[in-house]
Amino acid sequence: NTMRTVALIPGDGIGPEISDAVKKVLAAAGVPIQWEEYPISTKNVVPGQDLIPSNVLDSIRRLGYGIKGPLETPIGKGHKSLNLTLRQALGLYANVRPCRTIPGIQTKFPAVDVVIIRENTEGEYVGLEHEVVPGVVESLKVITRVASERVARFAFEFARQNKRRRVTAIHKASVLKLSDGMFLDCCRRIAAEYPDIEFKEALIELCSGYLISQPERYDVLVLTNLAGDIISDLAAGLVGGLGLTASLNKGEHTVLAEAVHGTAPDIAGKDLANPTALLLSAVLLLRDMGLQEHANRIEHAIYTVLREGQVRTRDLGGKALCSEYTQAIISKL
Ligand code: IPM
Ligand code: MN
Repeated sequence: NTMRTVALIPGDGIGPEISDAVKKVLAAAGVPIQWEEYPISTKNVVPGQDLIPSNVLDSIRRLGYGIKGPLETPIGKGHKSLNLTLRQALGLYANVRPCRTIPGIQTKFPAVDVVIIRENTEGEYVGLEHEVVPGVVESLKVITRVASERVARFAFEFARQNKRRRVTAIHKASVLKLSDGMFLDCCRRIAAEYPDIEFKEALIELCSGYLISQPERYDVLVLTNLAGDIISDLAAGLVGGLGLTASLNKGEHTVLAEAVHGTAPDIAGKDLANPTALLLSAVLLLRDMGLQEHANRIEHAIYTVLREGQVRTRDLGGKALCSEYTQAIISKL
């Protein structure tokens, strides 16, 4: 096993603590990775300078792999989100968010197993907004054929490689006739190239209701950017919330694992955070790097601790500190 180098952005708030858990668990599992750390923060943004220093972007591009903790995105005016800047600058065009029922985690939904594939570079997230006259703003949603076909193809390839049977395109083409209309058209065209995978379409509001009443209807979902943001949180909620779900941003040559939850400033620095989402994101990254066995062992250890339920962080009703929970996972490796 040759040593690989991966970029690590610990992030804001609870980011450093949960990143520490990732480093400890991976080291204990003997994963042949060393870290190149970049402590960028929303707090250090200097007006007029690059949001993400170019040396950080260059390093992630050079290494090809990275893990990041949460970076704060303030609500309302101000600069663009560092999270979005990273995705767009690195061309991370597909965001993979699996949501699967976790044994031992109490929910109302016993059999959820969906994978959200979210377009990650355009849609409503292009940041093109302006005030036309006081009291009237315009906000643009940009949909391109190139990005839509690229993410659709990604979803079908993902389905094929992961032995999944169905891809459902989620849209609002009934109202957004041009933008979602074209997105849907692209999904249909790509679907025709994958006769082995069943293709379905669903309006986004119907999908939202069915995810709650009949989640087994869905397998792989492909969505535009904002729609994917919303539906992936909904799906995460079905299996226990954002503290327990993984996320992987994929580009042509670059892969960045990240937890989707926030920085939790109220508990930051107190060793109370739940590192599961970032750990499971790291598992996705390891699989992508071809480190299957390490990924499986770590995932199994996490699920064992969650299923046994003796050592749990506070968000899951337990009393364990982040560091204690991390040790419990290590003891199951
Ligand atoms: C996510 C987050 C981000 C998003 C925020 C932090 C900009 O909610 O990864 O889903 O909206 O994409
Ligand atoms: Mn989100």
